[in-house]
Amino acid sequence: KNLVVLISGSGRNLQALIEHCAAGHIPARIAAVVSNKAEAYGLERARRAGIATEVVPHGDYPSREAFDAALAAAIDRHAPDLLAMAGFMRILTPGFTRRYLGRALNIHPSLLPRHPGLKTHAAALAAGDAEHGASVHFVTEALDGGPLVLQGAFTVAPEDSAESLAERVMNEVELKIYPQALAWLARGDLQLRGDLAWLQGA
Ligand code: GRF
Repeated sequence: KNLVVLISGSGRNLQALIEHCAAGHIPARIAAVVSNKAEAYGLERARRAGIATEVVPHGDYPSREAFDAALAAAIDRHAPDLLAMAGFMRILTPGFTRRYLGRALNIHPSLLPRHPGLKTHAAALAAGDAEHGASVHFVTEALDGGPLVLQGAFTVAPEDSAESLAERVMNEVELKIYPQALAWLARGDLQLRGDLAWLQGA
């Protein structure tokens, strides 16, 4: 299976996916890494792993629709079976999400449906949440609102800050749950059926 990964930043989740694909834990090859930012460090990680890269700078396009059309063209050059958003920080149009429906996952740094959008760690602190974590969901046109696949949680400590929560979400949760969810999807054990994520016993 061909996996295309979308990034905007440092690419720590991408790095985990590279390693899990190389080790055979995710039965897929990363066909390309696509970024909306030329300076994203994740592109360097991709090059080092010998993976094709594409940059589609969102500022070059007059509308979300035009950007999404260029993004889809860059993705489709690599014949994707699966799409993984890994710290990809653009809102996608319904036309784009429909094109990859059932084949695209996103990881979001909160326990959805709590704290969609940005600044999730500060939001969890401000709300006094006892637990925080991350969620993997199918990508639909609902922003951070597609059917949930897998979540990981931990107890917020009294001394936690937004910065420490960001680190804990990445290290204790995201780097574990995203490779797992993509392994299920690549194996065909995970499917989107209507509004529900279905997981079959492997
Ligand atoms: C992750 O916390 C992801 O959930 C969020 O942005 C961060 C991306 O980090 N949306 P990286 O680019 O994978 O290092």
